[in-house]
Amino acid sequence: MRIVLLGAPGAGKGTQAELISEKYGIPHISTGDILREAVRQGTELGKSAQTYMSKGELVPDDVVIGIAAERIDQPDTKNGFLLDGFPRTVVQAEALDKALAERNQRLDAVVNLEVDEDEVVRRLGGRKLCAKCGAIHTAASGATCEQCGEELITRADDQPEAIRRRLQVYKDQTEPLVGYYDRAGILKRIPAVGSVEEVFERVSRTLDSLT
Ligand code: AP5
Repeated sequence: MRIVLLGAPGAGKGTQAELISEKYGIPHISTGDILREAVRQGTELGKSAQTYMSKGELVPDDVVIGIAAERIDQPDTKNGFLLDGFPRTVVQAEALDKALAERNQRLDAVVNLEVDEDEVVRRLGGRKLCAKCGAIHTAASGATCEQCGEELITRADDQPEAIRRRLQVYKDQTEPLVGYYDRAGILKRIPAVGSVEEVFERVSRTLDSLT
């Protein structure tokens, strides 16, 4: 199964991706996680990406297209993959279509997690991440990770100014992908309000209907 998760910043893509990956046995590929790891390691890619990410801007298309193309060629994608945060522009979507066509593959579905802006601002304002394993937590979580006990931190781009910019960038550059994949006949709209479990139930019903 080859799936793309679409949705505004804070819609719950990372949260749902972990559950989908586990249930369907496909790797969760997040370009945001790959870039944050490069920043953490202080690589050349990380240093360059950080200048865009901290302001809530997109990293240039050619950079992320290269990262994604390399990742979908890894052996663990043999039975499919779940892309989270890629593609994010029409140029990236076209590059993905081309890369898959060259491999005689295609996307099975694009799951669009739909949440209104007030809710995503509320979610991002309270989000915490585990400094060690990266697990995503809500504002209601304690000071340490529920999975590994490490300290929880706030993501560098979860500051009010960067959140506002990310939402604007989403509207300008990523939202057009909803129409792009709708026209391709593979868009699945999922209301992403309610508990994490309720949203996952909706996503699962949709993905189960594909098999
Ligand atoms: P990326 O890491 O992809 O961030 P994003 O798209 O802004 O999405 P988020 O991770 O902020 O939100 P999410 O939808 O995953 O929500 P989450 O599950 O955490 O990208 C970061 C940056 O990297 C970009 O700005 C850009 O600079 C760069 N980048 C990455 N990919 C790129 C690309 N392809 N091209 C160019 N640049 C790229 O949930 C949010 C919060 O809500 C959490 O606290 C969670 O616990 C909570 N929550 C989740 N579900 C629910 C629910 N149902 N009810 C209540 N709370 C919930």
